[in-house]
Amino acid sequence: MPSPTALSSVLFFFLFLVPIVQSQISIPARYDGFVYKNHRVSSDSVMIDAFFDPICPDSRDSWPPLKQALHHYGPAVSFVVHPFALPYHDNSFVASRALHIVNKLNSSATYDLLELFFNHQEEFYNKQTFNMSRSTIVSHIVQFATKAVGNSFYSAVASGFEDRNTDLTTRISFKYGCSRGVFGTPFFFVNGFALPDADSAIDYDGWRRILEPLVGKSTARREEPVHYF
Ligand SMILES: *[C@@H]1O[C@H](CO)[C@@H](O)[C@H](O)[C@H]1NC(C)=O
Ligand SMILES: *[C@@H]1O[C@H](CO)[C@@H](O)[C@H](O)[C@H]1NC(C)=O
Repeated sequence: MPSPTALSSVLFFFLFLVPIVQSQISIPARYDGFVYKNHRVSSDSVMIDAFFDPICPDSRDSWPPLKQALHHYGPAVSFVVHPFALPYHDNSFVASRALHIVNKLNSSATYDLLELFFNHQEEFYNKQTFNMSRSTIVSHIVQFATKAVGNSFYSAVASGFEDRNTDLTTRISFKYGCSRGVFGTPFFFVNGFALPDADSAIDYDGWRRILEPLVGKSTARREEPVHYF
């Protein structure tokens, strides 16, 4: 049996210290995540936020049908990926950090790197990297990320891993996911609302069923002012 004193200090911790810790998460200067090309956020587009772990097979499998749907709707749907490094994937945080580093160097190459991770994920699974040192993995990921952003950026990518800011922005992505209640990947929000059973695969028809009624409405609203002219 824990003593009453122990219980009251536990209570004290949750009542007073936890809120203090939470309030110390500083608000980033910009909204977290990577905007998909030509799918910028606008007031009359349908907004999808996706939380992907670059080393997660379910995230990988969910991307092609979603990408196809994004291409179908064009700018009527805006799309932002937030990297979310699951703690049981040993190399996910480093991979997520590489996405932030590349995004800073050339934001157009971020999705190229995400797809490279998806297509070569096995190289970074826990078992495959079990005997590798941290520095071996980081230099492997530096070489890997350089493929997406271009050879001339090799040293910029490498020094990105020594820049504390890229560590912090990767933490922000993780914390942002936590603050939205994300507990697995992939995890999707449409216009800010979590999709039910978000971590099960949604195929192309599934995305069409979700988006079709929403895109129809936001387009109708957008066209309304035309009547006045
Ligand atoms: C940025 O990346 C895009 C897509 O990979 C590429 O077309 C463009 O040339 C790159 N820009 C620079 C400055 O490297
Ligand atoms: C790791 O290295 C040890 C010792 O060389 C070897 O016995 C083991 O099979 C290796 N494990 C993996 C997963 O490669």
